[in-house]
Amino acid sequence: MKILVTGGCGFIGSHIVDAYVEQGHEVYVVDDLSTGSIANLNPAAKVYEMDINADIESLFAETTYDLINHHAAQINVRTSVDDPIFDARVNILGTVNLLKAAVAHGVKRFIFASSGGAVYGEPEDYPISESAPLNPSSPYGVSKVAAEAYIRMYGRLFGMDYIILRYSNVYGPRQIFKSEAGVISIFADCILRDDTCKIFGDGKQTRDYVYVADVVQANLLALKSTSDTFNIGTGIETSVNDLIDIFSDLLGRDVTHSHIDPRQGEVLRNVLDVRRVFSQIHWQPRVGIKDGIVKTFEYFKKVSRS
Ligand SMILES: NC(=O)c1ccc[n+]([C@@H]2O[C@H](COP(=O)([O-])OP(=O)(O)OC[C@H]3O[C@@H](n4cnc5c(N)ncnc54)[C@H](O)[C@@H]3O)[C@@H](O)[C@H]2O)c1
Repeated sequence: MKILVTGGCGFIGSHIVDAYVEQGHEVYVVDDLSTGSIANLNPAAKVYEMDINADIESLFAETTYDLINHHAAQINVRTSVDDPIFDARVNILGTVNLLKAAVAHGVKRFIFASSGGAVYGEPEDYPISESAPLNPSSPYGVSKVAAEAYIRMYGRLFGMDYIILRYSNVYGPRQIFKSEAGVISIFADCILRDDTCKIFGDGKQTRDYVYVADVVQANLLALKSTSDTFNIGTGIETSVNDLIDIFSDLLGRDVTHSHIDPRQGEVLRNVLDVRRVFSQIHWQPRVGIKDGIVKTFEYFKKVSRS
């Protein structure tokens, strides 16, 4: 297949590109390198350094793509609060721009990276299933909900298959530790610099941490699945304090950490119900949090030495 991956120079997108290349697909990447890096990119992929809001249709003059896998986004929740117009421009209008080009050129399938951490807000029931009300608590969450709605609508109107993957907190090699997301890579970096790991509030807030290789596997299964929306997580809640304990066990010593003021508006709990994706496409996470942290830490150790 000829596959166009947006955000293919970023953390998750670059791993997906690797897997698609390995499966023998012809992979093309659109990325403006705002947070991604060419160093992440598989050399077998052809890259167009451009904004998803630019003239995407011009890319179809050379190539007919079978599928678009859309991972490019403004991913910072705080940026979305400070500049909701920028967030909406990238995450909503950028998606519409891709969809318009996709249906005009007969793209058969559209895969989208949505956020199970952002679209539901603070629901009443946990773990959160796909049928829970969509009640985002940030402009970022609203932009993901809006993009999802556009994708379903375009899918229905133009007969294009779509798979919406609502990720929980993804972690692993290549995650940028400078962003607000990615507490595991932030802690790995702090430990390697002998710095103190800072914990917002009491550290009891929980997330559902899913390893990037498992997310890649979902993107491989999504090449064939029928149109649907799936949570992609582990169904397991891990607190920030648990993460510190796991790092301490790994190092054989207590990780230096301190508690600072809680972040205003931070969701205290998030864990996804992943039964639907298992029953429909037999996806399930395979890497547990301890093994995932070992793999991630090894990567950051290697990078810090080079
Ligand atoms: N990391 C997570 O835990 C997580 C959780 C839920 C959903 N997601 C979603 O997964 C996708 C990938 O996230 P990530 O963590 O790999 O982030 P990332 O920042 O590493 O990747 C995003 C990529 O998109 C590119 N990009 C940004 N704006 C662009 C634009 N206007 N035009 C072209 N390229 C642009 C960036 O340069 C980068 O390479 C995003 O859609 C994000 O919302 C991530």
